[in-house]
Amino acid sequence: MTEQKPVSDSTALKVTLPDAQTVTSVKHWTDRLFSFRVTRPASLRFRSGEFVMIGLLGDNGKPLLRAYSIASPAWDDELEFYSIKVPDGPLTSKLQHIQPGEQIILRPKPVGTLVHDALLPGKRVWFLATGTGIAPFASLMREPETYEKYDQVVMMHTCRTVGELEYGRQLVESLRDDPLIGEMVEGKLLYYPTTTREDFPHMGRITDNLVSGKVFIDLGLKPMRPETDRAMVCGSLAFNKDVMAVLEGFGLREGANSEPREYVVEKAFVGDGI
Ligand code: FAD
Ligand code: A2P
Repeated sequence: MTEQKPVSDSTALKVTLPDAQTVTSVKHWTDRLFSFRVTRPASLRFRSGEFVMIGLLGDNGKPLLRAYSIASPAWDDELEFYSIKVPDGPLTSKLQHIQPGEQIILRPKPVGTLVHDALLPGKRVWFLATGTGIAPFASLMREPETYEKYDQVVMMHTCRTVGELEYGRQLVESLRDDPLIGEMVEGKLLYYPTTTREDFPHMGRITDNLVSGKVFIDLGLKPMRPETDRAMVCGSLAFNKDVMAVLEGFGLREGANSEPREYVVEKAFVGDGI
């Protein structure tokens, strides 16, 4: 049985719902992006990289839920989420206004394919994300198992603008001073952020930087090989499709929880983008 706690909806009416969690902090990164942390149900166990359903009460009084990657690692006392703000989005038009002390609904049934168990052992893992697709990797980059399993971890994150990279940039920076995994990360985590529509030291789509070999040259790495390299992919449907073709070109094959192989994919959202 899940504990019953009060949830406040946007009109601040107190109602009782199962699976309510309290918001502990909120940070707005751009006018399209924010992150927030909530209390973690004592019973919730998940694997870093998985997603859950979260939401608020809708106008009709029923839960309005959406899939969200848990951006915090499995060992964290709280849960972190990194979210888009869709102007007319049923959930995020409201969710973007949440404040510390308010409550959200969280269904404690984590699932997902971006987990270590879905990949065969390898030497180097590539985290390939666009936009909010970095959320599962925000979890996996803070997961000690990531550094126990691989000699090198390459985080490629691409957004249209520099401001949209900031959540990931600050997260990577904070890892180096992290008492738990700071030492594990040192020398293993390679961060390769790029923009496509604003000037930045490194630019271009992830697909183009892999196909041209630019990312390998810039980071001083050998090209991807199925014998050594593993990849996890999270972005729009079009991005995922195009990256899969590139990975297949390098000889990697798609895996799953039930059949681990060289790469795994998850949608960062459903739809064509905004
Ligand atoms: P919706 O009606 O759900 O979406 C409206 C439109 O907005 C969509 O058709 C799409 O075009 C666009 N859109 C939705 N989400 C995004 C996005 N993240 N980036 C760019 N465009 C988008 N969203 C997050 O912000 N963070 C996450 O960690 C996250 N994890 C997800 C994991 C999975 C497995 C899936 C399937 C989706 C995930 N999403 C995530 C998307 C999320 O479920 C919602 O779609 C999003 O919160 C918007 O909800 P909404 O009700 O406001 O609008
Ligand atoms: P671009 O600016 O060239 O379209 P979006 O905000 O549309 O979801 O895109 C997020 C980032 O992902 C952008 O930098 C965008 O590049 C890039 N992107 C979008 N579609 C693809 C794709 N099919 N392959 C590679 N990168 C993509």
